[in-house]
Amino acid sequence: MVLWFTKTDDYVFNLDAVRVPQKYPQKKHFKGPKKGELSGHPLGKNPSDVWEIPNVKSNHVEKTEHPCQFPIELVERLVLALSKAGDWVLDPFLGVGSTAIAALMHHRKAIGSEVVPLYNRITKERIRQAKKGQLRIRPMERSIYDPDSKGKVMPPKYVEIHPVRQQLDFFSLLEKKD
Ligand SMILES: C[S@@+](CC[C@H](N)C(=O)[O-])C[C@H]1O[C@@H](n2cnc3c(N)ncnc32)[C@H](O)[C@@H]1O
Repeated sequence: MVLWFTKTDDYVFNLDAVRVPQKYPQKKHFKGPKKGELSGHPLGKNPSDVWEIPNVKSNHVEKTEHPCQFPIELVERLVLALSKAGDWVLDPFLGVGSTAIAALMHHRKAIGSEVVPLYNRITKERIRQAKKGQLRIRPMERSIYDPDSKGKVMPPKYVEIHPVRQQLDFFSLLEKKD
C-alpha cells in the first residue's frame, strides 16, 4: 500500500511522467462537439489505484541477496510523480538501494539509511554498475507477462546515471555508516 501525504496544497504531482497506455488509444468521441477527436489523453491515462508490478523473486533481473527488495519500476513511478529533478529523495530503510537508484536515474538526489552493512555494500555495487551502464532493470513500460499475448516481450534495460555531485554525497554517507 502506498500512502501519500503532503504538508500543504503546494505539492508536486507530475501526472504526465507516469501516465500508462490507454486500453483503446484510438477511441474517439462519436458525437457532440468533440466528435472525431481522441476521447482519451494522447499521453495515456492516470495509473489506476491498483498497480500491477511483478515482485522481485528469483528470476527477476534485479534480484540480489536481499529477501524483500522493491522493484525499481515501483519506486520510479513514485519518484517521477512526486518529485522534481534536483529534489532529495529519502529512503530511511534503504535495503539494497532500489529507491536511490530510481532517484539517481531521474536526476534526483538520494539519501538513505540501512543497518545491514552487506546491503550497503550491495547498494554501492549496484550504483557502481549503473554508473558504468551495466545495471539491468525491468523497464517500467513493460506490461505484465501474458501467455496469450503474441507481442514481443520488452527486454531488460540498462540503467544510466551520471557522475554528478549528489552521487558523491550519497557515497560518502554510505561510507560513514559502514
Ligand atoms: C523492506 S526492506 C527495504 C528494501 C528496499 N526497499 C530495497 O528495495 O532494497 C527494509 C530494510 O530496512 C532495514 N532496516 C530495518 N530497521 C532499520 C533501521 N532502524 N534503520 C535503518 N534500516 C533499517 C532492513 O535491514 C531492511 O533492509
